[in-house]
Amino acid sequence: MPNTPFYITTPIYYVNDKPHIGHAYTTILADVLARYHRLLGDPVHFLTGTDEHGQKVQQAAESGGIPAQDHADRTVVRFQELWERLEITNNDFIRTTEERHKIIVQEILQDLYDRGEIYDAEHEGWYDISSETFVTDKDVDEDNLPDHIVRIKERNYFFRMGSYQEWLIQYIEDNPTFIQPDFRRNETLGFLRQPLQDLCISRPKTRLAWGIELPFDKDFVTYVWFDALVNYISAIGYRRDDAQFATWWPATYQLIGKDILTTHTVYWPTMLKAMGVELPQTIFAHGWWLSGQSKMSKSAGNVVDPMKYIDQYGVDAFRYFLMAEMVLGQDASFTEETFSRRYNTDLANDLGNLLSRVTKLILSHFDGRIPTPAETGAEESKLQEVALALSNGVGDAVQRMRLDDGLAQIAAAFRETNRYLEQRQPWVLAKDPHQKELLGTVLYHGAEVLRIVSGLLYPVMPGKMEELRSVLGLPAGEPDIEKLGHWGVLKPGAEVRKITGLFPRTDSRAQKAGAAEQGKPEKKEIEGVMQAEFADFQKIELKTARIVEAERVPDTDKLLRLQLDVAGESRQIVAGIAAYYEPETLVGRTIVIVANLKPAKIRGVESQGMLLAASTDDSLRLVTVDGEIPTGARVG
Ligand code: ME8
Ligand code: MG
Repeated sequence: MPNTPFYITTPIYYVNDKPHIGHAYTTILADVLARYHRLLGDPVHFLTGTDEHGQKVQQAAESGGIPAQDHADRTVVRFQELWERLEITNNDFIRTTEERHKIIVQEILQDLYDRGEIYDAEHEGWYDISSETFVTDKDVDEDNLPDHIVRIKERNYFFRMGSYQEWLIQYIEDNPTFIQPDFRRNETLGFLRQPLQDLCISRPKTRLAWGIELPFDKDFVTYVWFDALVNYISAIGYRRDDAQFATWWPATYQLIGKDILTTHTVYWPTMLKAMGVELPQTIFAHGWWLSGQSKMSKSAGNVVDPMKYIDQYGVDAFRYFLMAEMVLGQDASFTEETFSRRYNTDLANDLGNLLSRVTKLILSHFDGRIPTPAETGAEESKLQEVALALSNGVGDAVQRMRLDDGLAQIAAAFRETNRYLEQRQPWVLAKDPHQKELLGTVLYHGAEVLRIVSGLLYPVMPGKMEELRSVLGLPAGEPDIEKLGHWGVLKPGAEVRKITGLFPRTDSRAQKAGAAEQGKPEKKEIEGVMQAEFADFQKIELKTARIVEAERVPDTDKLLRLQLDVAGESRQIVAGIAAYYEPETLVGRTIVIVANLKPAKIRGVESQGMLLAASTDDSLRLVTVDGEIPTGARVG
């Protein structure tokens, strides 16, 4: 298959304020896709930049008491520094105050004006100062006018956007992948069911001076969106370098947040149509990051600052979290607790354990050299299958723009590999010299999975994966994607290096608070059981168990003594659930327990573990298993 050029863009961000997590998200997403396509060998062009004109920027500059250009010059640095910190590999960075951009905007305006696509007219209407747009009469409640809505009568220039309505509807219907996800496409089609107005593309300088001057009327600047959208083509040589333009346009993906859907799926395509330029292949609108459950806003004081998390967890973990947590297209909630939980579970625990188990034993038992695999059994075949399915699975997820799903497949693979190691018990094999061959085979399998996942995670966590790959003795630089779909690439005898703390565990304050919260209901009765820190909780083994006997603990009204079967082994635990369950109704149920908790005495009765239950202040339900599964099965 020949490699097709891949051109990806982010919105250009307003320089009215410093970047936050939302800006970081879109840019990281573009970076991951760009890096993935580079691995595929596609020629890639990745563009981001800043939107520096218009009212928002002018106002921010005014409140800072400096000229707009100075304000832009200062703020743009914060974006550029963040992108550098986040290891964003954009090929270009465009600022709309650059000459190369302004001149193209003016040429386009002139051309459209000359061809009658832009006309001037006297216009009277309601104007929203905060969003810099005219609002229709029906959207205004005249008896209840907010301060930012004012009546304006002025001459302005208009782009004949309305004349493209039928064409645009037809285009969207004929090109189902033009707007993605599908529900956003329907949103635009819904919008287009109402008559489409012409677009006012000028602002009199008396009202707003900070913009690109109309080439045919010096009393006006152009509307900020008519300027900003053009960046996607002015940056790649439109009207200047036909060869470059032809290489990259139409863009493969134009990523946006759902907030700017109309400008990108109505204004932008009609502008391009009027210019006689092809439309981008896909406008992809992702969802919104919420701060907890709320919209982020300066006034609410809940804006998430990426720097804080990068400093605390590292760039790669931050990138991973954003990509793994958001189902592309939908909204997602950012909290420190979800962040640290995912970090500890996926990276510190599952990947970290796998890596340290495998490398430690190779270092101590094979002189730090990749062992030679011998004959393999069913467990090995199963693991190979899982690992070999990954490359295609991830490729497919990227194709569907479901990076979260791709990452979930990878995380499932390292969990599966940990499970495999628990079955094979290499740490036990290591004690028996007769088992050395099997030990080598097991470790080879662990190392091969690490090789594959480190390659597939490379676009998301380039720095950490480079480190991991060097530990396995793999060559520096981009992994060869071809090899990620093959088994047996690591060469026996190759040197493995020692590694410490690729993803050190963290124990955030939010987590501790969460642990205290969770411990509460049972704490009073069951002293000694909730001794584990929440961070430790994730190290804990969860297993299925069947309740064989249940009875009240004498002289208490809350406690039940349960006799359990866990893979043939009998255990007793004490649980504060008597207020919620009659003992005899419990017998025969399969529940989930923490199997490796230190035994504790509760009211003098020994408890060897703890069960899992969901509870509120006045109700409690046991966590049970959906369907048949033997006892002692691992939960996680
Ligand atoms: O709209 N969650 O710039 P902007 C997810 N200059 N993404 C978010 C987000 C959040 N909470 N907040 C912001 C503009 N974003 C114009 C664009 S393009 C020709 C001109 C991301 O600084 C998301 O990509 O307000 C959103 O579309 C963009 O930042 C808006 O950035
Ligand atoms: Mg915005």
